Amino acid sequence: MQTNGHERVIILDFGSQYTQLIARRIREAGVYCEILPFNTSIADLQSHKPRGLILSGGPSSVYDPNAPRVERKLIDQANCPVLGICYGLQLMAYELGGEVQPSKSREYGYSRLTIVEPDTRLFAGLPKELDVWLSHGDHVTRLPGGFVMTAKTDDAVNAFENRERNLYGVQFHPEVAHTPLGRQILRNFVFEICGCKGDWSPAAAIEEQVARIRETAGENDHVICGLSGGVDSSVAAALVHRAIGDRQTCIFVDNGVLREGEFETTLALLKQSLKLNIHGVDAGIRFLDALEGVVDPERKRKIIGATFIDVFEDEAKRIGDVRFLVQGTLYPDVIESVSVRGPSVTIKSHHNVGGLPEKMNLKLIEPLRELFKDEVRIIGRELGVPEEILSRHPFPGPGLAVRIIGDITEERLRIVRAADRILDEELRRGELYGSVWQAFAVLLPISTVGVMGDERTYERVVAIRAVTSVDGMTADWARLPQDILARVSSRIVSEVKGVNRVVYDISSKPPSTIEWE
Ligand code: XMP
Repeated sequence: MQTNGHERVIILDFGSQYTQLIARRIREAGVYCEILPFNTSIADLQSHKPRGLILSGGPSSVYDPNAPRVERKLIDQANCPVLGICYGLQLMAYELGGEVQPSKSREYGYSRLTIVEPDTRLFAGLPKELDVWLSHGDHVTRLPGGFVMTAKTDDAVNAFENRERNLYGVQFHPEVAHTPLGRQILRNFVFEICGCKGDWSPAAAIEEQVARIRETAGENDHVICGLSGGVDSSVAAALVHRAIGDRQTCIFVDNGVLREGEFETTLALLKQSLKLNIHGVDAGIRFLDALEGVVDPERKRKIIGATFIDVFEDEAKRIGDVRFLVQGTLYPDVIESVSVRGPSVTIKSHHNVGGLPEKMNLKLIEPLRELFKDEVRIIGRELGVPEEILSRHPFPGPGLAVRIIGDITEERLRIVRAADRILDEELRRGELYGSVWQAFAVLLPISTVGVMGDERTYERVVAIRAVTSVDGMTADWARLPQDILARVSSRIVSEVKGVNRVVYDISSKPPSTIEWE
């Protein structure tokens, strides 16, 4: 295991949708935090030398036959203070000899918490009553020996502690914004109870990563990086550049399905601002030839992925003697998923450069694998990555290929690019670009009747999609102002030849997805 030498708090994940949020809150407080699966062994846990342990929430009931449990005696042998949240509290109660029972109905939503033990350190500095967010079906009906109730909602136990053994539990969720004073509770846990000083910041990660990259790549080794112009690969490349300069060659491939002007402007921007050693490869024709006549979305993805690997491999051969590949993998991608929720189904096969490392016998350098996206932006800013790149909307690897429904032709690419540019211009002009997660145009494979001047037309339909989201996992359609939508629509119909109708997508994810394909 590679440790970064900082104080660390460990979260054991029991499958709550909020687990990552707990980690982010702790890191925001300046304490490094990692998420491990619920079934982590005592020995493994101890090897992380945690200053504090948090047992997350989760969808199960402790009495379910398949409920996720910790190794026996883990709570005692963690050698640090422990905080159980929601399911974590119930598990602690259950494991230590208390009693948990199903509530009459599932408690979900706001509740008023009353603190009954005013000198408990977990609630230090908080008012006697506060709003908290609940989401649970069970509650504790008998405290384990040595524990006292520290707070209640109505008459039910909502928080408890055993100060002597440094064990704490809350039934509500302090990590969510709906518990307005929740941050203070988590801060109390890490600072007052665990005694952390707060020695971590995303910026501090830069020097550590630079040192680690230098160590990995030694004095002479060459490294390649597939640059997409997005936040993750650009920041990863900037970090590696700081470590080993021009021993990194970045390869930026025009796959023929990029947005208008994207290849030229991004290439120039990254060359200028970061002085990266970038090699732009115009492989548009190669990709479009491979995609000719292909309609099925998954086949489009597979073809683009495979062609990318071929192009990349050719370039790497030209550079010669490359041993490492840089990837912008983020922390949410590496958190070992727990099977609490059962194996997840592949909805869309996302890929970046999967398959390359094995095929080319390359070792990976992943300098962002301990970071969340917002932390990557912070260090990107420190490294001088242009704001234009850091604030850019995510853009899928298969690009416009999954935004043209049906097969991809030059003519369709022209339409979708022009519509996309107009939407982008209007969002920026209306200062709305930053408030949406993604916004784009989709070309539909149908024609509809219209009238222009005195002429009947029979032309294409463009759908506009704009969504708000925190992480792309769920999303809602953006309530864009009507005058912006009106301007986008009239500009597309008048400026983009071949389009006579524009529709706005009002579906959320789930049940829809963000991209149409
Ligand atoms: P969906 O459509 O699954 O998209 O709701 C979620 C996020 O992922 C992006 N996306 C992709 N990114 N390769 C990628 O690199 C892909 O094949 C792919 N498909 C979707 C999408 O733009 C959104 O941000």
